Amino acid sequence: MKTLFDQTKLSGMKMKNRFVRSATYDGRADALGHVTKKLIDHYEELAKGGVGTIITGLTNVTDIEKIVPGQMAIYNDSFIPEYRRLTDTVHQQDVNIIVQLVCNGAQNSSKNDGVLWAPSVIEDEPTVSGATEMTKEDIQFMKDAFVGGAIRAKKAGFDGVQLHVAHGYLLSRFLTPYYNRRTDEYGGNTENRARVVVEICRSIREAVGPDYPVLAKINCSDFMDQGFTFEECKHICKMLKEEGLSAVEISGGTALSRANEGVIRNVTAETESYFEKYAAEIAENIDITVISVGGHRDINKLTDIVNQTKIQCISLCRPFIREPELINRWASGDTTPAKCISCTKCFGVETQCIFNK
Ligand SMILES: Cc1cc2nc3c(=O)[nH]c(=O)nc-3n(C[C@H](O)[C@H](O)[C@H](O)COP(=O)(O)O)c2cc1C
Repeated sequence: MKTLFDQTKLSGMKMKNRFVRSATYDGRADALGHVTKKLIDHYEELAKGGVGTIITGLTNVTDIEKIVPGQMAIYNDSFIPEYRRLTDTVHQQDVNIIVQLVCNGAQNSSKNDGVLWAPSVIEDEPTVSGATEMTKEDIQFMKDAFVGGAIRAKKAGFDGVQLHVAHGYLLSRFLTPYYNRRTDEYGGNTENRARVVVEICRSIREAVGPDYPVLAKINCSDFMDQGFTFEECKHICKMLKEEGLSAVEISGGTALSRANEGVIRNVTAETESYFEKYAAEIAENIDITVISVGGHRDINKLTDIVNQTKIQCISLCRPFIREPELINRWASGDTTPAKCISCTKCFGVETQCIFNK
């Protein structure tokens, strides 16, 4: 019988339990993405709460995109000593920390200066106007920026990196036919739309060596018209595994997803663990570590998931905003479900649960 508290491993990284804090924007970096005391305090509180592995909020690898106020960044070497303070703090609690690397692309409502990269310019994008179609030079620049971010992350003591390939951010939009109308080798069939992600994965693996955890958070489906499909997702997970990807975290949805079929859904007892069946199918058929995210609230159901499927780890976001100490609570024997009611009012300048104010 497996439990959520089993020790496990992901590439070279030991995990003291199967719980992962899924990447969560927290708004606590400074205006240029640098580390602040409140950011370190935030992660220390989370690390003391019992979760085995924390994935940071989305962290920009360039300084030429529009910076979102409060979003973390890792675009030059000045970040290395700052993040060393963060990783040391988390490691003192025997917790792993992985940085989520991103280019925001056109899903960015920041008023700051900077480019809004897109695979193609789609006039009716819900989030933004003023995007520019990336040239081949832009794509090369972006790929180098991801690799630079991964190298810095390793030097700063992060236990791994996660590529953000989900939710309509830039790499995810390359995968989505609706957003990617390119006619060069980065658009068209599945292989072409996946090319940029595959190339980044390959280059990062070459740069960080064989054992360093390199993960991707990817949509099982966009749940929208002309979206990326589950069949494509499975195909791309296989391709990425061949490039040395260590694990996939299976999410789903974009800003254009059908109502309550996006990434952040309402959760009831009936709709808990809403992407689990997709994660389970991938874990069953592809030889890659699978993390399941989305609406996990009940430890008894989660115990069933790790016993009845090949899903290795369970990640949660909103429950930790309400209860940073959730895993300690469950470990102490109070196994009532997470108190999060999934109202998603935690979004704000600084991410915070309205019940904790
Ligand atoms: C406040 C907030 C911030 C988020 N920030 C990120 C992020 O930076 N990167 C990411 O991949 N997902 C982000 N997400 C999505 C979550 O990681 C997760 O996939 C989603 O909330 C579903 O999981 P949950 O039901 O456990 O909350 C965020 C969600 C919320 C509510």
